[in-house]
Amino acid sequence: VKNSIEAFQQRIENVLEIQLNDSSAPPRLASAMRYSTLGGGKRLRALLVYGAGAVVNAPYESLDFVAAALECIQAYSLIHDDLPSMDNDDLRRGKPTNHIKYDEATAILAGDALLTLAFELIAKSDLADKQARQISNRLSQCAGRSGMVGGQMLDILATQQQLNLAQLEEMHSCKTGALINAAVVCGALCGVDQSDATIDALDSYANKLGLAFQVVDDILDIESTTEQLGKPRGSDANAGKATYPALIGLNESKKLAKNLYQEAIESLQLISDNGELTSSFDLLTDLASLVIERTH
Ligand code: IPE
Ligand code: IPE
Ligand code: MG
Ligand code: MG
Ligand code: MG
Repeated sequence: VKNSIEAFQQRIENVLEIQLNDSSAPPRLASAMRYSTLGGGKRLRALLVYGAGAVVNAPYESLDFVAAALECIQAYSLIHDDLPSMDNDDLRRGKPTNHIKYDEATAILAGDALLTLAFELIAKSDLADKQARQISNRLSQCAGRSGMVGGQMLDILATQQQLNLAQLEEMHSCKTGALINAAVVCGALCGVDQSDATIDALDSYANKLGLAFQVVDDILDIESTTEQLGKPRGSDANAGKATYPALIGLNESKKLAKNLYQEAIESLQLISDNGELTSSFDLLTDLASLVIERTH
């Protein structure tokens, strides 16, 4: 399945390459958009779209557009997250951040345009009208004020503050979990006749995995290296961010990530044959392992 992860990473790269090739945009803007979207990133959100799509047998042609939309929103969120007024970081995916390579105004606009492009991609996909509407709805809810953007607001407000565990979970689930949820559920919505039980189980898998992902991100900010991460190690501590290791310690954070992984897998078992996960779940189970075992 390592093969299939690599194959899907290559597939999404090709889709993004085509969709980010637009000669009608000002060249500097198009260049800044391509700089932060192409040739980097683990592509977890795109992979989750394909992974959920595999469970419901969705057509690749639709999944491509949805996966590309998710990666556009991911790239935009990172460009804005790194801005001087946000986390003020200068390295991302092993390269200078967008505002360092270009300038702040260009970085803001590249992010704006990537967010807009995400919804253009859904609109111009070959999805049926009803599916496109359901997917736009889920994606906008998860990316917006009560999802990722809302979580980023909570993150900024929490800087130099002590949160309790419930507040920290809320912040992490919003700033990171929400987009991971959108990836999984929107992938599933590309299928033709998924049941409510399937969507519910995938929704639960995604929520567990999304929280685990940010817990691991917090751990890596302490334990990994700048070189491995491709972004500055210690950024959270330097900025006084509210993180899991800061609140419950490294060991408890690692245990929590493992437990969340287990719960994510158990959510999938709810919709499998007698708890036996068939091969259509392979990508989702492998991605869950990747999330907790990753080093960057
Ligand atoms: C980074 O996400 C932002 C967080 C939500 C922690 P990723 O670690 O998935 O970043 P890329 O896309 O692989 O660069
Ligand atoms: C980012 O959280 C969540 C986003 C919505 C981008 P972080 O600020 O911890 O992400 P990194 O560590 O910079 O990738
Ligand atoms: Mg941040
Ligand atoms: Mg950051
Ligand atoms: Mg981080």
